[in-house]
Amino acid sequence: MQILRIDSATTGVQSISRKLTDELVAHFTAKHPDATVIERDLVAEPLPHIDPITTKAIRTLPETHEEAVAAAYPDQRAVLDEFLASDVVIVGAPMYNFSIPSQLKAWLDRLGVPGVTFKYSEAGPEGLAGGRKVIVASARGGEYSNDQMAENQESLLTTFFGFIGVDDLHFVRVEKAGYGPEAIEAGLAAAKDEIAKL
Ligand SMILES: Cc1cc2nc3c(=O)[nH]c(=O)nc-3n(C[C@H](O)[C@H](O)[C@H](O)COP(=O)(O)O)c2cc1C
Repeated sequence: MQILRIDSATTGVQSISRKLTDELVAHFTAKHPDATVIERDLVAEPLPHIDPITTKAIRTLPETHEEAVAAAYPDQRAVLDEFLASDVVIVGAPMYNFSIPSQLKAWLDRLGVPGVTFKYSEAGPEGLAGGRKVIVASARGGEYSNDQMAENQESLLTTFFGFIGVDDLHFVRVEKAGYGPEAIEAGLAAAKDEIAKL
């Protein structure tokens, strides 16, 4: 049993999504005391933006790799293998400018791999990375779950994880973080109740 924790908030000790990822790790380790927990802090140790070499390393077959691509391949593949080896994946995903932090996008860029996490056929796209639970710890300043404002944060993650075949996907969220401490406290209390049900 392996739990993977991903953090991408740049707000340090103030971070609400990191409070949620803390809470989620505590919840799942209490449930599975023998679990191994792997932590990947994408702010402390950022993955670089993909470039021509890493794009090839991620998305093409190893037997076609020229030297520079072959050299880049193990580090890219390690990110994917860590995800594929995990039974529970906890993803800290704050909303920054209506989307996810670019650090988190760089992680997703290593998971969308043709032939490994998805494939296309005449029947359309097929996700190949099911068989794990993914929980997104979402934090955002405004209110979006009432559908009054468009967002590309939870919707992007829903589309991405659905596309690669994750069918056990959950969101735990604190909204209205920008409304002040009372809203944050209420949001965190409600999120903790949701976490207890997972
Ligand atoms: C760089 C940055 C951009 C933000 N952009 C948005 C935004 O577009 N919409 C929104 O509702 N809140 C926005 N916020 C507020 C955050 O979503 C909110 O503070 C949330 O708690 C962030 O998660 P964190 O506390 O884990 O960093 C932004 C905050 C930061 C730091």
